[in-house]
Amino acid sequence: MSTHIAAKEGEIASRVLLPGDPLRAKFIAENFLENVKCYSTVRNMFGFTGTYKGKEVSVQGTGMGTPSQSIYVNELIQFYGAKRLIRTGTCGSTDPNLRIKDMAIIQAAATDSGMNHNRFGVHGLIYPPVADFNLLRDAVDAAARLGYPAKVTTCYSADQFYDERGEEKEKLLLKYGVSCVEMECSELFTLGARFGVQTLGILTVSDMIFEKEYASAFEREQTFTKMMEVALEAI
Ligand code: HPA
Repeated sequence: MSTHIAAKEGEIASRVLLPGDPLRAKFIAENFLENVKCYSTVRNMFGFTGTYKGKEVSVQGTGMGTPSQSIYVNELIQFYGAKRLIRTGTCGSTDPNLRIKDMAIIQAAATDSGMNHNRFGVHGLIYPPVADFNLLRDAVDAAARLGYPAKVTTCYSADQFYDERGEEKEKLLLKYGVSCVEMECSELFTLGARFGVQTLGILTVSDMIFEKEYASAFEREQTFTKMMEVALEAI
């Protein structure tokens, strides 16, 4: 048992999917896994372990933003021995070639996160959070096998969803190949490197940032299923 997860030793698999929304964790467990057991309901941030094609997999909600996600990822790695962790979530796209419902496999994360500023920025350093190469390759292969198009790209992990600074940052980052915005991958990749475990992000586009277009609930559901298949095959 760790501070924020009530699982007993051995109840969490070494392969963990990380949706932000705890109800998504429940949905994944109920619809994609067999022999499911709920191992934690602390703060309603549900965690489940089950099997996918005979492979033991856990699904843990993390909440939104790097500070919340960091708590769960630290405990999964340090207390429960998680070794392969994939964030499955949504992102906003700034790239005209990455549209609503498209899937993005995240290879690296630019960030303005206070967490990495406090780790590195205060020392004058800029640290590059990157996904694990082998896990990335497994996800690209899984998407190809399933016949689902997926763009390998870089995201911007932002601290603020409601950001009053305007869209200049997103426009600048897009010039450097950063094509979508979300709020967690930078911390997941940084912790993966810190503790020598494999991490990756697989995201579906829920909104177009500049055009202010949003996916319908039906579209989100449809594309979510494809993303989960890729993540479960890859992990
Ligand atoms: N910004 C930040 N995080 C997000 C967005 C967004 O537009 N869409 C989905 N996650």
